[in-house]
Amino acid sequence: MSTYTMTSTKPFTVPDCIQAKVQSRKIVVVTAYDFPTAQMLDQAGVDILLVGDSLGMVVQGHPHSLTVTLEDMIYHSSLVARGARRSLVVTDMPFMSYQISPEQALENAGRLVQEGGAHAVKLEGGVRTAAAIETVTQAHIPVMGHIGLTPQSIHQFGGFRVQRDEAQLLDDAQAVQEAGAFALVLEGMPSALGEKITKSLSIPTIGIGAGAGCDGQVLVFHDLFQYGVGHRPKFVKSYANLNQVITEGTRHFIDEVRSGAFPGEAQQYSS
Ligand code: KIV
Repeated sequence: MSTYTMTSTKPFTVPDCIQAKVQSRKIVVVTAYDFPTAQMLDQAGVDILLVGDSLGMVVQGHPHSLTVTLEDMIYHSSLVARGARRSLVVTDMPFMSYQISPEQALENAGRLVQEGGAHAVKLEGGVRTAAAIETVTQAHIPVMGHIGLTPQSIHQFGGFRVQRDEAQLLDDAQAVQEAGAFALVLEGMPSALGEKITKSLSIPTIGIGAGAGCDGQVLVFHDLFQYGVGHRPKFVKSYANLNQVITEGTRHFIDEVRSGAFPGEAQQYSS
């Protein structure tokens, strides 16, 4: 079994993303929110580190991402950027940081690049967000789009619901591509629709709960490695159980402190 899949030390760039689709090479994306996680994912060979506003849920403990601020995103993005050597760092624009006007989107995208160290930003929404995507990309800040079950729209959707409006989603995907985005996240939709959208575009799609027909896949770190408690959606597959490792390690530490086994000789300074 291969435990180390890094294939190249060359940085993964926005043009590489487009090239990956041409060459049918799947793009691997994992969310990251801090320095050590970014370092590990980068060194293991992940193509894109996504500083997701999912941090509102998995790091901050809120029920959704709507309370995440631009300052939160700048802070976490700067931690991840410091740990990334090869991976492309894409940072989410949080709720209300791009909806007011294309100019607001550009100003805040600029802060994520200058202060947060992001290589690219991600905006939710299709047709309704196209003007903002166009303004940001015209300033040469690469944009990743995001359509389908967009978590910043949960109140409009009535919850985290799989999206099935094929005509609307095909229009959204086309609008994001025409506005200049270099990639598009497809979240929470039937697999057949994920594949249909993927085939209709020249930019790569990154799926999360959108089936195997996408050009790449993204998962939230905490779901991928069972870190922290919370609802695990159907589309998640976990590759390790950090909850178990940390709980067992903590119990062992508690036992050793209480029994006097820690600190041992090796952990003490001699006189
Ligand atoms: O915020 C996030 O982590 C995301 C991914 C789940 C796509 O947008």
